[in-house]
Amino acid sequence: MNKPIERVEGFSKLDQIEKRELVASVLENPNDVMDLLQSFAHQDAEIQELLNEFSENTLTNFPLPYCIAPNFKIDGKNYLVPMVIEESSVVAAASNAAKFWFDKGGFRTEIVNTEKVGQVHFIWNDDVKKLTDNFASLKQELINGTMDITENMRNRGGGILDIVLKDFSHEEPGLMQLFATFETVDSMGANFINSCLERFAMLFKDWYNSLDGAQENGLEIVMCILSNLTPNCMVKCWVECDISDLDNYVPGTSGEDFARRFRTAIRIAQVDSFRATTHNKGIYNGVDAVVLASGNDFRAVEACGHAFASMSGKYTSLTDVKIDGSRFVFTLRLPLALGVVGGLTNLHPLVKLTNKLLGNPSAKTLMGIAAAAGLANNFGAVKSLVTTGIQRGHMKMHLFNIMKQLGVEKHEQAQIIEYFKENVVSVSEVRKCMEMIRENAKV
Ligand code: MEV
Repeated sequence: MNKPIERVEGFSKLDQIEKRELVASVLENPNDVMDLLQSFAHQDAEIQELLNEFSENTLTNFPLPYCIAPNFKIDGKNYLVPMVIEESSVVAAASNAAKFWFDKGGFRTEIVNTEKVGQVHFIWNDDVKKLTDNFASLKQELINGTMDITENMRNRGGGILDIVLKDFSHEEPGLMQLFATFETVDSMGANFINSCLERFAMLFKDWYNSLDGAQENGLEIVMCILSNLTPNCMVKCWVECDISDLDNYVPGTSGEDFARRFRTAIRIAQVDSFRATTHNKGIYNGVDAVVLASGNDFRAVEACGHAFASMSGKYTSLTDVKIDGSRFVFTLRLPLALGVVGGLTNLHPLVKLTNKLLGNPSAKTLMGIAAAAGLANNFGAVKSLVTTGIQRGHMKMHLFNIMKQLGVEKHEQAQIIEYFKENVVSVSEVRKCMEMIRENAKV
């Protein structure tokens, strides 16, 4: 039983050992907890220091598998794609799909656009005409007044693209916003955008106060923040082949039959939001794994993708399939704001490795790689779902976890793996098989 947890004062001020001790003290066997926490700390103190600094109140590390999906051909270039993921079968599914498409031209990508968004939300309690009539000059002041912040970005080919006024006063009295768009080139751009927005707010206040008849509460800035919804930061990724190339991809199934069933599965995800959610989750199995391996923000990427998937008013599939005569074309359209500079990218040793492995990609190239991983995972999942079902593959991968959980000895594993090549995996069946091996060993 855990001990009662008291209100904690000054936790962040404790050093790491003291933090561990405090946490361990509420659990049974605090010494074991201390040992466990220490066992996950990095042996290199400098690296541990670096990891500690990525967050706050760090006790230790929480490792996730760093994996490789080979055989990704993307726009004619071959990649070993790093994926960080804890779910068995995601990397296998991505690798199998990548291998299948490798000699059919691989994955093709197109960066549709790369525009990021930021907003200054405010309440306008004055005559709205004062704002709309003078907006052009305000906009110029905002752009001029942020030249120092945007200088480096402009030198790299980015900066502020536009600022427009949006009026939400029909939803909430006085509610309006400066809706700004940015090009942030190879960075995800969150800090850059937020810095620009906060400066906009300051300049906006000054501008308002200098107007004739400015009132004390005429302009209230509510908040300044980037938007993670970036529908105009879009990558398109697709694979295509002749339908006859799909013959016997699933043994005993014609290409035509496979393509027809596959298309129906995509249609289900397009018309039914319950299915679309799981379908898109399967896409993010691949996307998030690359996003994590490249040190990007998977929460932002997911929030954006799911919002985009609902922009028609109904949550729907992010992938589409076209059967055009004899051609099968499978496409993913994904808004994806990624960076290859800034954030963790120049700090985390494994993120640096990811970038090296991917040939130091630009943000655009990384968008294509993450999208290809998403499309590959979706292809693998839908293929299994409409043919063998996913449990066969999943449970085979899960067999190792079950064997671990049941305490199967190393020397018993090979027999169990052999047995389950032909039999359906379940915890109870694995237990039975283990017990049978142990009985036989007694004789
Ligand atoms: C499991 O992580 C992902 C799937 O459920 C995706 C799907 O159903 O398309 C297999």
